[in-house]
Amino acid sequence: MTDPLALDPVLPERERSKLPFNQDRPHDERYQAFEAHVLAGGKIEAGDWMPDEYRTSVLRFVEMHANSELMGVLPERDWIMRAPTLRRKLALTAKIQDEVGHAQLLYRVAEDLGKPREAMLDDLLAGRTKFHNVFHYPTRTWADIGVIAWLVDAAAIVAQQALRDSSYAPYARTMKKICWEESVHIMHGRDVVVTLAGGTASQRAMVQEALDRWWPPLMQMHGPRSDRATDRDLHWRIKAKTSEELRQEFLGIYVPRVRELGLSLPDPELRLDPETREWRYSEPDWAELRSVVTGHGPASEARIGFRIAQREETRWVRETVLGPAVAA
Ligand SMILES: [Fe+2]
Ligand SMILES: [Fe+2]
Repeated sequence: MTDPLALDPVLPERERSKLPFNQDRPHDERYQAFEAHVLAGGKIEAGDWMPDEYRTSVLRFVEMHANSELMGVLPERDWIMRAPTLRRKLALTAKIQDEVGHAQLLYRVAEDLGKPREAMLDDLLAGRTKFHNVFHYPTRTWADIGVIAWLVDAAAIVAQQALRDSSYAPYARTMKKICWEESVHIMHGRDVVVTLAGGTASQRAMVQEALDRWWPPLMQMHGPRSDRATDRDLHWRIKAKTSEELRQEFLGIYVPRVRELGLSLPDPELRLDPETREWRYSEPDWAELRSVVTGHGPASEARIGFRIAQREETRWVRETVLGPAVAA
């Protein structure tokens, strides 16, 4: 599905804000001009001058996002051959194809910041870079497919919608297209969950069990609270919201939606504080989050191992296509 907005061309030079990125300015002056431009809501294009710290921060952010899209298809891939109907199989396959496409788009954005794709894959497979915690867990039942597409994608879209206004323009443009597709994934996931919740007693039990298992990783997914004042990604408007703001937004939209299906969430502390209008919840297990994202999750080794094997198996294709031409 293509969002026409995502196809907006890059503005020609004359239409862009007049960025004083002139080479003849001394470094400090140029840095200040960059900061003033970004803080005033200005955008940065791949070819603009940017401080190394900004380039590195955007790269780290986009690379982890790309890794997550790429690794995130593996838990779902396990269920393509086990989807209960042809329609479900088609929907799941289309979603997986979208996610791989997201990885492709994001690796291209990251490449423009100076890190070759091969180096990004090397780092991912050697465990030097990370991907989101939720993709380190196994998928045990068909209900997991519904819960992932509905709630994992929902938690992700809350963050991604806020990135459509990122100061790094190529990332912001890419997020517009990705958000359109993610919203379709959420509808697909909700449909799977609603069907199971309205099905037999064992289907209902299956979806409740999946929800109970996925809730703790979902609560960890946006990360621990951080201080807005010291977060440089926020300062430079690479992202717009803190972890806690994203978690509150996710809870505000999705807790009522889960409960209206007659399903429960496995946290006795979870409630909306009527005075502050903030959600209260049991403290997520941050030690588990740290251990999982550093490659010690229940399915981390299998997922990385699968990617290593796939890369090896497809090496000949890359060598053939990208290698030097051979005389006939
Ligand atoms: Fe995606
Ligand atoms: Fe998605």
